[in-house]
Amino acid sequence: VKELLFTHDHSLVPAETLHALEKQLQPEIERMRTVASSGSYTDERSSINLVADEALQQRVKAAVRKVDLVVVVGIGGSNLGTLAIHEALHGKNHNGLRAPSIYFADTVDADAMADMVVFIERYLERKMHVLLVVISKSGATTETIANFEVLYSLLQKHVEHPHKHVVAITDDGSPFHKLAEQQDFTVLTMPKQVGGRYSVFSAVGLYPLALLGVDTHSLLAGAKHMREKCLAEKNNPAATLAAIQYYHETHGRNIYDTFLFSTDLESIGKWYRQLLGESIGKEHNRAGKQVFVGITPTVSVGSTDLHSVGQLYLGGPQDKLTTFVTVSRTKTLSLPQMPAYEPLVPHIQEKELRHLMHAIEQGVQAAYMDKARPFCHFTLPEKSPYVIGQFLQLHMMATMYLGALMDVNPFDQPNVESYKKETKRILSS
Ligand code: PA5
Repeated sequence: VKELLFTHDHSLVPAETLHALEKQLQPEIERMRTVASSGSYTDERSSINLVADEALQQRVKAAVRKVDLVVVVGIGGSNLGTLAIHEALHGKNHNGLRAPSIYFADTVDADAMADMVVFIERYLERKMHVLLVVISKSGATTETIANFEVLYSLLQKHVEHPHKHVVAITDDGSPFHKLAEQQDFTVLTMPKQVGGRYSVFSAVGLYPLALLGVDTHSLLAGAKHMREKCLAEKNNPAATLAAIQYYHETHGRNIYDTFLFSTDLESIGKWYRQLLGESIGKEHNRAGKQVFVGITPTVSVGSTDLHSVGQLYLGGPQDKLTTFVTVSRTKTLSLPQMPAYEPLVPHIQEKELRHLMHAIEQGVQAAYMDKARPFCHFTLPEKSPYVIGQFLQLHMMATMYLGALMDVNPFDQPNVESYKKETKRILSS
């Protein structure tokens, strides 16, 4: 069993303060335990019950089929989790290396969509099986419905029964749910109480990942294992992370950088950027008082971004808390023996690339310590479904706990809704 390791020896939070904040979270942990023991979807925290929902897993499994190309049409909470897990497990260069291929249609970027249409048409002309997985909780997001219309019309042009090439994932009873049933699409529903950015372990993430052959059983087992740890009174990593974030936010560090030393984990950072940004960035507190609070999440990739923002992070303002994410076991790739190059960079001949990366990781942490920059550290023993499941579950529960400490509702997004409404108004005029 591979455990995700969370260490915070250099978080620079005084031990007694950390302890007091963890204690302050006990009533919320208790509420979360009640939700978990109910096993139902009646509370806004109930996304934590997805990992134990066997009926859901059966429904997902029954809808899986063999395809050559999966196109996920969805945005925000409807695609970021899938993209994050897919890239973490299969790498950014998956397409062309393994089948089935996968594309993500999110924003209405005419250039990107026009290219995607060309790619998809190549599959369709060769009579290969293309499946559109259209995902929208509300069923009324402009970008998703627009992109779906573009791609569905492509299917109508090329295949005899286009409806058989669509799986729709939406809220039970949403306007799109009704339309999808009328069109005879396969429909998978998600529980109303599970918000988009907490939905990665619902059909929203499980279905497209299962199409790609991901071991979703292991993903959920990792998430469930972490759920139990994050429901505990003591040694609760989600409560500790939330307490550290809260402490720094209230001490002038309201930027939170997830610094991932693995290119293929970048999208995990972006998934968390949405989770933290939308959940905690709020105009009003729970009592309705205007407060304008939030933590600005940033994503950095090591070692690439040391060559862009490393100077700022180590020399700039003391306004950030960093969490490093490193991976212990990666592929093995060794440098050749090339003595002519030894004077340029000594001591790397015949070494493995991962040893270079580990040296950089340790060097960066030593520099952060030297400059008294606070940081936490997640060590992934490997990039497997079980470990990634743990990482995502911990971050979702930590975000709920952080909402409790900051006295904001971590489940709504009223200001995102206002942009959606304005867009619709402009389009209608
Ligand atoms: O977390 C959220 O609720 C949002 O980011 C949504 O996921 C996003 O706006 C897309 O909405 P929908 O799934 O309704 O199309």
